[in-house]
Amino acid sequence: MDKAESKPAAKTGAGLEGVVAAESAIGDVDGVNGVLIYQGLNIHDLAEHSTFEETVYLLWHGRLPKRDELDALKQELSANLRLPEEVIELMRRFPAKAEPMDALRTAVSALGFYDPGGRDLSREGALRTAARLTAQLPVVVAAFGRLRDGQEPVESRADFNIATNFLYMLKGEEPEEREARIFDQCLILHADHELNASTFTSRVIAGTLADMYGAVTGAIAALSGPLHGGANTNVMKMLLEIGEPARADEWLAEALASKKKIMGFGHRVYKTEDPRSVWLRRFSRELAEAKGETRWIEILERLRELMFAEKKLYPNVDYYSGSAYYLMGIPLDLFTPIFAVSRISGWTGHVLEQYANNRLIRPRAEYIGPRDVKYVPIDER
Ligand code: CMC
Repeated sequence: MDKAESKPAAKTGAGLEGVVAAESAIGDVDGVNGVLIYQGLNIHDLAEHSTFEETVYLLWHGRLPKRDELDALKQELSANLRLPEEVIELMRRFPAKAEPMDALRTAVSALGFYDPGGRDLSREGALRTAARLTAQLPVVVAAFGRLRDGQEPVESRADFNIATNFLYMLKGEEPEEREARIFDQCLILHADHELNASTFTSRVIAGTLADMYGAVTGAIAALSGPLHGGANTNVMKMLLEIGEPARADEWLAEALASKKKIMGFGHRVYKTEDPRSVWLRRFSRELAEAKGETRWIEILERLRELMFAEKKLYPNVDYYSGSAYYLMGIPLDLFTPIFAVSRISGWTGHVLEQYANNRLIRPRAEYIGPRDVKYVPIDER
């Protein structure tokens, strides 16, 4: 082989910063102006007017659905709500203390066993799998949330949308309408975010022509880390640790002095306010006022002021979402699985796009190790 060819074409910054690794028509992040679009539509319009189901259609098909198309998608999602009994049985055996993201990852991987069409990677087959996964992820999260507490899973309701159904299955009671709508909007806001770490993971896996269950299982693992989807739970832990707005200044000064990363701040792409956080802040405040518990939003707002003054950093999507979910009575460790319940739409959209125009994703590494090292027999080392 030509020596020049065997070397990487260009050296990239750590963490692939600034590298454009795929063409995609699904979504775009303008990090300078703080604009996020899904298939050309501004996230603000979608959060205001759309529903999660409509957004799912948009991400998979490239345009908003007509009424009959949306009805057909809703029907397909409703028809896929039931989990295979074997997966419920498997989940019963998960340790009660298992991290819910690990439980979700294992359950999704197992769901692949019971889907005879799971290896059909044609557009039609992959769309069918995408609908199945999108319907079943919330059922898995809600079921695990109950099983670990010794409660039986609550049967899903085919007449509810995904947001209402999730809250219903988790708590066993119909959610209040406004709360269910806020949750639906949260799902819209988290649905896609271009080549974030978990979506990139899903495309790399799909690029080998592995099935969608594998791609989503890997994406869940990537999302679980504290630098990605795990940050929302950690923000709430931070709020509980701070406890009172009056302690925010002192807590932050200490945290920054000990070089701690403050969860919910900073972003690889946004150099201004994350447009999603505008909505999530609104929801967090609305729920705080409705429930008469404003200390979390007060702490959040104080930390936001201080972090901007000290570090010029803005809140990201994970900053306010946790406090909103907390006020809805959702357990802390389910916040990141909820991110997955939404992001499944973006992951599957990207996997569909990858399958449609696939080329194996296989970059190069710049070798920085030694060369020409002599092999020394084991007894002579
Ligand atoms: N707290 C304190 N300092 C920070 C923070 C933070 N949250 N984020 C960035 N910085 C500083 C960082 O120390 C560095 O400073 P210096 O140049 O002096 O070393 C500078 O800002 C650049 O940060 P970086 O870590 O090199 O940036 P990155 O692009 O590699 O990482 C990030 C981006 C989101 C991982 C990072 O900002 C972070 O760890 N944030 C906290 C975790 C978090 O909220 N994650 C959710 C991300 S958004 C949702 C998602 O993708 O799931």
